[in-house]
Amino acid sequence: METVSPPSLADDFRDVMSGVCTPVAVVTTMDGDRPHGTTVSAFASLSLEPPMVLAALDRRSELLALVRAHGRFGLNVLASGQQALATRFARKGADKFQGVPWRTEHGLPRLPGVAGWLACRVHRLVDGGDHVIALGLVDAAQRLAVSPLTYHARAFGTHLPVTGERC
Ligand SMILES: Cc1cc2nc3c(=O)[nH]c(=O)nc-3n(C[C@H](O)[C@H](O)[C@H](O)COP(=O)(O)O)c2cc1C
Repeated sequence: METVSPPSLADDFRDVMSGVCTPVAVVTTMDGDRPHGTTVSAFASLSLEPPMVLAALDRRSELLALVRAHGRFGLNVLASGQQALATRFARKGADKFQGVPWRTEHGLPRLPGVAGWLACRVHRLVDGGDHVIALGLVDAAQRLAVSPLTYHARAFGTHLPVTGERC
């Protein structure tokens, strides 16, 4: 009789998390004069007083090594339609910014047309399994009135309110 192995906990976990709709950002920092960025969906607001944000970065991430060294990072919250940037910055390599317009703000790389921008100082780097959680103190914040890019079931999308009510 054929036996089917039960799916592993890791597979079940991945499956559950793929059903969680997340925002998408490009976290950036500087490597000397060179900008570097990485696509991140594991980020969230942490504190209002003082304003703080968290981002979970893979231990093997080049960006993490650079954030450790630089002590600062920018968080570019992507807008609906910016999925090509999300895909580009999910690659490896030192040339991810090649051909991408950007400017320096608070000494950090900022992408144009993003839905939100945060300039952060690293408060602490906390171990979290195979990731490291960067806790950032927010030095500057700006929102643009555009729809956000979202990620759900391995596809990019955006948010659609189901009612006109706000809470
Ligand atoms: C939609 C999406 C979300 C991602 N979220 C994260 C994340 O939260 N943290 C992380 O470390 N990597 C995340 N990644 C993977 C990184 O972008 C990818 O590993 C990247 O190549 C790392 O580049 P680096 O080594 O230059 O930092 C995500 C990728 C995609 C496509």
